[in-house]
Amino acid sequence: MIDEALKAFRRGEPVLIYDFDHREGETDIAIPAVNVSHQDVAMMRIDGGGLICVAIHPIAADKLQIPFMHDVLAAAGEKMPYLLSLSRNDIKYDSRSSFAVWVNHRDTFTGITDIDRALTIRRVGEVVDMVMTNGEFDFASEFRSPGHVALLRAAVNLTYDRVGQTELSVALAEMAGISPAVAICEMLDAETGKALSKEKAIEYAEERGIPFVEGDEIVEYYRDFKEVK
Ligand code: 5RP
Ligand code: CA
Repeated sequence: MIDEALKAFRRGEPVLIYDFDHREGETDIAIPAVNVSHQDVAMMRIDGGGLICVAIHPIAADKLQIPFMHDVLAAAGEKMPYLLSLSRNDIKYDSRSSFAVWVNHRDTFTGITDIDRALTIRRVGEVVDMVMTNGEFDFASEFRSPGHVALLRAAVNLTYDRVGQTELSVALAEMAGISPAVAICEMLDAETGKALSKEKAIEYAEERGIPFVEGDEIVEYYRDFKEVK
């Protein structure tokens, strides 16, 4: 299925990424950021229902000076010490979260509409592509924070260091040879109030002809694709 997923990403189409039974046990809808239309944002919020984020490659995040939220809170905590307590890390499924800052493109109005979020997401994808290929870019010239699109910073060695959908989606984009910025959104189940089960996510994927890949496959393929010592 990974070959189908790589082909879909190269065509700018969605892929469903399930992490692991032993981690979140969630499936995210993943779409290359540069290709996200307002119809894709509607699909993510209606069929997915989770949080719409953009996972970005750590090299691009460094070049664009996009920090982890926990680092922002640590710095701000020097002046407002309660922020240090607020950011005490006790998440249940990993050693840390991948949340960075939240942004809107400066040409958006409120930032939340499908059209506004698609603009923010696409432009993040284009800017990531630009800086990954040695370009320079002043991120604040086009984006403001806070905003309605959450950016996620992938770990330095991607799936070698962390195996969240953040790293899984960026590794898939890297292997597909496309801009390593991917819009992701969890699939939730309004009937149960929980994450959509893997079985229901597979059913959704089959009905729509969307490739469904699991974390194990991406980790294994990335190991063959890139050696990290
Ligand atoms: C943002 C999240 C999601 O779980 C998203 O899938 C990215 O997180 P992770 O890399 O931890 O899986 O927390 O809604
Ligand atoms: Ca996740």
